[in-house]
Amino acid sequence: MSAEAIAYDVDTSVPILEVQGLTKHFSMGGSMLPWGHRSTLHAVDDVDFALYPGRVTALVGESGSGKSTVARLLARLYKPTAGHILFHGEDVVRQNSRRHVLRYRGQVQMIFQDPFGSLNPVKRIGHHLARPLLLHKVAPRSEVPERVRQLLTTVGLVPADDYANKYPHQLSGGQRQRVCIARALAVEPDVLLADEPISMLDVSIRMGILNLILDLKRRENIAFLYITHDIASARYVADEVLVMYAGQVVERGETDAVLQAPLHPYTRLLLSAVPNPEGGLSHRRVEVRGEVQAAINPGEACRFASRCPVAVEASHCKTPQLVEVQPGHWVRCHLYPQPD
Ligand SMILES: Nc1ncnc2c1ncn2[C@@H]1O[C@H](COP(=O)(O)OP(=O)(O)O)[C@@H](O)[C@H]1O
Ligand SMILES: [Mg+2]
Repeated sequence: MSAEAIAYDVDTSVPILEVQGLTKHFSMGGSMLPWGHRSTLHAVDDVDFALYPGRVTALVGESGSGKSTVARLLARLYKPTAGHILFHGEDVVRQNSRRHVLRYRGQVQMIFQDPFGSLNPVKRIGHHLARPLLLHKVAPRSEVPERVRQLLTTVGLVPADDYANKYPHQLSGGQRQRVCIARALAVEPDVLLADEPISMLDVSIRMGILNLILDLKRRENIAFLYITHDIASARYVADEVLVMYAGQVVERGETDAVLQAPLHPYTRLLLSAVPNPEGGLSHRRVEVRGEVQAAINPGEACRFASRCPVAVEASHCKTPQLVEVQPGHWVRCHLYPQPD
């Protein structure tokens, strides 16, 4: 995206993408319950959030908490079981025509964990960037080489012509992830969904990709969903944090509020697993006692209760609601007053 493409007139207080009651249940083949009922895995349950221009929202949680399912729902790779996805105010869940889906996919782009797996090894980098430009008719053929140069420059791969002529295997992991980001930017998206974009990269180059995300949000006003199991990287890039556990958001708020004064016992555990907040981005997975239990036919208990060091009686028999405990700071836990 060129410098001229900077959208100065973007209203950063209006969400680009809004998710309301987003829910995805997977029916589990085979495990039939009595009376013919099937088991259902609640991968995502009743999730709400909004993505704004020039803002990074982080989805944080251990493996299995439902983060990638949220990303796939937003990318329209899955159909939600329930809920709404409003894109520029319009509910896209029921807009299923090819034209609608193509237009949406052009504006909501996804970046994956494995930058090598998503590049064709026999094609040069220039080809990877020219293709979406032509496919989505972003630029006439004559302007494509110049746009490719601009894209490579935007993501810091200079001299651009050198990189355009290389093959994926000639680049480092970090450079390949930059190519994937450039490819996502080619179609001039409003939203980038980044699912663990640094977790497969060497520690030494992670910071570079996070700085690129920060740079793009500021310069291009892109709305980011940044997905991670590493709460330290969320601290570095995110304006807002949502902590997910077993398909539910258990805490959400501004990054400083959530990470400096966490309310939910799970968020506290995640943070206590980070040895040194300033040490940042070492190669470490969140390690807390136990692991996320998939919410299969979840009953009326707090989903975190079995791992919770401070569970109360109600935790074992009643699902807590997500409650706004302080302005803009929400938590789902029986330690805080519940609505009647
Ligand atoms: N296509 C699928 N079919 C059945 N279960 C799935 C599918 N995708 C994800 N799941 C399950 O949903 C839960 C959440 O998975 P996922 O969204 O990948 O979590 P995360 O990205 O946080 O690790 C897991 O229990 C996972 O096994
Ligand atoms: Mg995942």
